[in-house]
Amino acid sequence: MRKILRFDELDSTNAYAKRNCSLILDQTIIVAKTQSAGRGRMRRTWLSEPGGLYFSIVLKPKQIDFLPNLTQGMALAVCQTLRTLKAQPQLKWPNDVLVNNKKICGILSEAVTSKNGFEALIVGVGVNVAQKDLSRAGQPAVSLTQLGVPVDTDKLLDLIVDRFFARYESLLKQGFSAIRTEYLNYFSYIGKEVTIQHGAAPVCGTVETISPEGKLVLNTPAGQTIISIGDMCI
Ligand code: BTN
Repeated sequence: MRKILRFDELDSTNAYAKRNCSLILDQTIIVAKTQSAGRGRMRRTWLSEPGGLYFSIVLKPKQIDFLPNLTQGMALAVCQTLRTLKAQPQLKWPNDVLVNNKKICGILSEAVTSKNGFEALIVGVGVNVAQKDLSRAGQPAVSLTQLGVPVDTDKLLDLIVDRFFARYESLLKQGFSAIRTEYLNYFSYIGKEVTIQHGAAPVCGTVETISPEGKLVLNTPAGQTIISIGDMCI
């Protein structure tokens, strides 16, 4: 049985997991109905009003070669789960889930380290489920309710977590190659012109593919460029 810690409100499920990491067992799930300081990627905030699904999984694996790919594995688990519910999401590299170019799920993974080295990876997931107004999300966003796909948040949590853990061991052993074919099925950016924002200088180019390591391969005026991290914009 997986351990689930449930809260009506937290500042952030990721922040709670980080603060209490040493006391939390491997594969524990922390869920909150709302977050007062939900965290997004690139130091953004994540609007966390009631109706959404907000959770973090604390992972303490022994094999740590492929940690970034666990986040991509979670994005795939969410995308496939939403497809079974008849929504039609796509993946946006590295780990966003969008419907009609509107964000329906974001994932923020944070590592916890101590003087002994790596302690845990916290994989934090926000899914827009039953919110009726996402105009304050700070980016184009949509919920399952707005798409006419009703689902109970607890049921959705179970479905996503089961899918994630079904691939967990192979992700730890093989990294992105364990999921590359499936991931590419839902990745519709190949051949498109994109800009990658990260740091001071954005990189523009045409998407060629995603490498077996899970990196974005771009054709740019300077030649083929492999991107490990960043925000992809069209
Ligand atoms: C993104 O910017 O796309 C990532 C958003 C991640 C939000 C989730 S909600 C649960 C967990 N707790 C947080 O504070 N953030 C993540």
